[in-house]
Amino acid sequence: MRLIDACRGRPVDTTPVWVMRQAGRYLPEYQELRRGLDFLDFCKRPDLLLEAALQPLRRFDLDAAILFSDILLPLEPMGIAVHFQPEPRIPDPLRTPGDLARLRDLHPERDLPYVLQAVADLRAALPRDKALFGFCGAPLTLALYLVEGGGSRDFLQAKALLFREPDFFRRLLDLLADAMGEYLAAQVRAGADVVQVFDSWAGVLTPDDYEAVALPAVRRLIARARAAGAPVVYFVNGVAPLIEAAGTAGADVLGVDHRVRLQEVVARLGPGAVVQGNLDPAVLLGPAQAIRDRAAAIVEQGKAAAGHVFNLGHGITRETPPEHVAVLVEAVHEAGRRRD
Ligand code: CP3
Repeated sequence: MRLIDACRGRPVDTTPVWVMRQAGRYLPEYQELRRGLDFLDFCKRPDLLLEAALQPLRRFDLDAAILFSDILLPLEPMGIAVHFQPEPRIPDPLRTPGDLARLRDLHPERDLPYVLQAVADLRAALPRDKALFGFCGAPLTLALYLVEGGGSRDFLQAKALLFREPDFFRRLLDLLADAMGEYLAAQVRAGADVVQVFDSWAGVLTPDDYEAVALPAVRRLIARARAAGAPVVYFVNGVAPLIEAAGTAGADVLGVDHRVRLQEVVARLGPGAVVQGNLDPAVLLGPAQAIRDRAAAIVEQGKAAAGHVFNLGHGITRETPPEHVAVLVEAVHEAGRRRD
């Protein structure tokens, strides 16, 4: 598999490419499949999860499929109700050290059988040359939602608690690290070829707080997941001030957002680094020639790394015309084959 070879820093015939949030709302066939169904109910139907994850691969020559689910889904069996409208809401957030007692251990095979069924069905349905991604949220990103009660621009309430009750915050992160480490290992056992940890909100912390609080927990998660045998991609949004620290998390691949040059990431991590990224998702709204030019430039920058998996710097926007994704995938494969 081209994508797994790139993750391992082995030679590839061209640059592999997939797109964060590649299944979902920008695809009319997803809208059709979802119609009339609550997001959570949808996420518990393995037949619909299989179809949603395969939809983008029917349209585009992507090198990977990703399990259709959400990073907040495992919180429900851990005892925390989550609603999607479509922004996630947690009506009863964790606010005091005593609230930790509300969190139950996660037993993935028992608690999330529909997810693992979807992983197994997907692996069976996919051609051998397409990789299957499993995923989870990073402890910090999950904890920010759990304490804030939903999404937020700056997660002020959650950060206030980090400073008021640092021990509570650390224990919460450790608990989430253990649960998510188990969850990723279960996804690998079910058939995932590679797993990604989404740290979508790491960028709201100072580098010192990231290192002291977020990093030890995500290291623990990644060590558990890697023991299951599949490569781990650690995606950090807002990575620029955190590159060296995030590079010590233990992942096989560091996924980066688009606010930093890929060549700078490689320079700061060293030539043995394997990276994923990092086209600005907004480029996909623009003309085809801009997509081709920007994609080719990133592919060239990626050649300085020991391995490069092409992706956006963050999730694809719902306004993206699907035909533009086809232009992107073709441009990446074309530029990746150039040997100059
Ligand atoms: O192709 C895929 O990647 C689909 C699987 C997937 C979803 N969410 C489906 C979803 C994945 C990998 C995620 C990850 C996720 N979820 C992240 C990390 C990635 C990132 O974007 O930073 C985060 C922070 C969440 C939390 C979340 N879930 C938000 C903020 C939202 C609402 C807005 C949005 O981004 O769409 C959700 C709901 C959600 N998760 C939807 C989908 C398709 C929209 C629900 C709908 O269809 O109405």
